[in-house]
Amino acid sequence: MIEKESIEVINTHFVFPNDTNNYGTIFGGKLVELMDLTGALSALRFSGENVVTASIEALDFKIPINLADIVELRSRVIYTAKTSMVVKVDVYREKKQGSTKDFCCRGYFIFVAIDENGRPTPIPKLKTVSEEDKRFWKIGETIKSGAHERRTTSL
Ligand SMILES: CC(C)(COP(=O)(O)OP(=O)(O)OC[C@H]1O[C@@H](n2cnc3c(N)ncnc32)[C@H](O)[C@@H]1OP(=O)(O)O)[C@@H](O)C(=O)NCCC(=O)NCCS
Repeated sequence: MIEKESIEVINTHFVFPNDTNNYGTIFGGKLVELMDLTGALSALRFSGENVVTASIEALDFKIPINLADIVELRSRVIYTAKTSMVVKVDVYREKKQGSTKDFCCRGYFIFVAIDENGRPTPIPKLKTVSEEDKRFWKIGETIKSGAHERRTTSL
């Protein structure tokens, strides 16, 4: 099986009025959309296949992101199984007048690679190099097994 390293995807978004609620902060749903899109790019680049979002872990939004802030999203594949992969997406808030980036939230998404018929298709195995890669691999493994348990026990 081919082993591959994952390369970080960085995506930035300027917050416009139509991204916000009545209080001038970004809609949670808009942020999830941006996270999903950035994560999907990581999954697509890593697998070289089309991908769909299979599940999203719980998200905690720590600080608000306001109108005219810059959102920076950083994603990478942290775990791979046969056709699915866990992607970590970190979100930072950047003020246009400042040089600091404030951590806003982290999400874990599971994407499944699909073929031309929409059926799951095999992906390369993630190559873990650093101690950090190995640490996140374990987190991804736990997320994958939690999703499997939900899927096999719910409804
Ligand atoms: C994701 C999808 C392709 C899986 O198809 P399936 O027939 O259930 O496939 P399988 O049971 O063979 O599972 C294939 C892989 O997907 C994983 N998977 C399936 N459903 C999952 C879920 N809800 N969460 C996490 N992983 C999931 C399986 O664990 C398996 O992983 P592995 O091959 O790496 O071990 C299918 O459920 C689908 O198309 N869902 C809709 C996706 C979508 O439209 N997303 C956009 C938002 S609605």
